Amino acid sequence: MGTIAFPKPSWLETDKFASTCIIGGQWGDEAKGKIVYTLAEHHDIIMRYNGGPNAGHTLDNITLHQIPSGILYEDKINIMGQGMVINPTLFKREMEEVKTMPYVGHLVVSPNAHVILKHEIALDLGGAKQMVGTTGKGIGPTYEQRAARTGIRVADLADRKTLADKVRKSVESVNRRLQKESWVSVDEVIKEAEEEGGFLADYMDDATRLLKGAKKEGKKVLFEGAQGALLDVDNGTWPNVTSSNTTRPSVGQTGYYLPVTKALGVFKAPMSRVGKGPFPSEWGRTDGTNETRHLIEDEKEFIEAMGFISSGRMPDAGKEIVKIGRDAMMSAILEKMNAGKATDMEKAAYFGWKGMEFGATTGRARRLGPLDLVLARRVTDINGLDGAIFTKWDVYSGTGEVEFVEGYCLNDASYPFDYSGEYLSEMEFLNLRAADPMIKKLPGWTQDIRGMTEWDQLPKNTKSAIKFAEKAIGVPCMYFSTGPKKDEIIVRMKAK
Ligand code: GDP
Ligand code: IMO
Ligand code: MG
Repeated sequence: MGTIAFPKPSWLETDKFASTCIIGGQWGDEAKGKIVYTLAEHHDIIMRYNGGPNAGHTLDNITLHQIPSGILYEDKINIMGQGMVINPTLFKREMEEVKTMPYVGHLVVSPNAHVILKHEIALDLGGAKQMVGTTGKGIGPTYEQRAARTGIRVADLADRKTLADKVRKSVESVNRRLQKESWVSVDEVIKEAEEEGGFLADYMDDATRLLKGAKKEGKKVLFEGAQGALLDVDNGTWPNVTSSNTTRPSVGQTGYYLPVTKALGVFKAPMSRVGKGPFPSEWGRTDGTNETRHLIEDEKEFIEAMGFISSGRMPDAGKEIVKIGRDAMMSAILEKMNAGKATDMEKAAYFGWKGMEFGATTGRARRLGPLDLVLARRVTDINGLDGAIFTKWDVYSGTGEVEFVEGYCLNDASYPFDYSGEYLSEMEFLNLRAADPMIKKLPGWTQDIRGMTEWDQLPKNTKSAIKFAEKAIGVPCMYFSTGPKKDEIIVRMKAK
């Protein structure tokens, strides 16, 4: 099972029940999967409590979408909780991949979790995918079906007598909302529910009882968040959000109330967003739509930069890469960055390449920009965070400087961050699209920090940047990830 990379977190040093909740602090893809995989070693139960296959959590050798990131430990129990929406066809495929790994843990699926079938995907593809830039996995329509009481749950999959009838009603309710040419075949969905659904139903067990037992027996539970706090259906940048709650309160709806001992938010730098919606610090301000490309002064610059990010998926820009050579282009951008002369799109191209910033679920190039401390502070408050985990900062090694958002300009007035966290009102958050970020530049570091495991190894400027960011976020940085692998992490301090 490998060596233990870091000491057991202090709040788990007890005979009594304790839990940790890992929450995405941004718009997803903060490296929650890697962090959960690392921390799972010190927990008994790992539970996904929200979302579904819209998530993509990258571990050392595998990307998980629905199965919790503790599955690669043979001695752990993994729970897919009732707040999830699960695609049985994708689940089967994912399970087959998991089973090729050296160790596989125990998995339990809640009977109350909802099931994503073909008709919900058709509805997603026909609407929200274009409007919001969803992952197209049927997430929103399945949560809609849950609210409308027309959805299918895991427990329904196990009841073969009534399944076909329930599926028929569910599909018909969706077909009524689709153009006739997009109608989904009832028989096809019934077949999917019976065949693939049967495989999923075999994992059904009483998750609530397991959680109850965990409390009684003093077990350690790790809650694995999906998406990020800014994608929360209530607290995020609505309507450009996902369809579930992604924040700490949703852990209270897991079927048996378990307190969260420590809630830790994961903050990546540079930060990213996939899909549409405001992102004040985004390099290039694309807004995730082609329509707003005019915001970028030089179209050619945009195409070139995007070409590097999406390497080949945009054919014209792809030709440009082949002509110049990607590595040569990246070295040229790096030189410009060190001279303080790189354009925003060049920065996006460089960090997109360096950090391999492609959606783990859809393969889309992630939009990128400096870590926004104003939003991070809001996320701390929404979640009552106890600590922060910083990830990916290693990509800044050798780039000259590190940028952060430390305030906004709105309506010709500037609002620097005042460290009390009071600045961003709800009205201003609603108006996020209009906010221009105030950028704080801190000196970077030349040494490559990738893979470091000791705080003392870090260059002085890295430590200063961490201290600057944690002060603004309002909670200490407890872990500092220095690479994608499980053990590439620095324990900053023991939380009490
Ligand atoms: P999640 O959805 O929050 O689990 O994040 P993703 O897995 O979608 O994206 C995070 C990406 O960053 C993955 O490709 C990880 O392998 C990678 N990663 C994780 N931690 C680090 C880190 O500290 N440094 C670098 N360079 N990459 C990291
Ligand atoms: P992980 O767990 C990044 C985004 C989509 C879209 C919006 C709504 O890997 O961090 P949905 O399909 O949920 O209806 O799409 O939310 N989104 C994510 N972005 N990481 C994720 O998950 C995401 N899950 C959803 O891109 O903008
Ligand atoms: Mg992801």
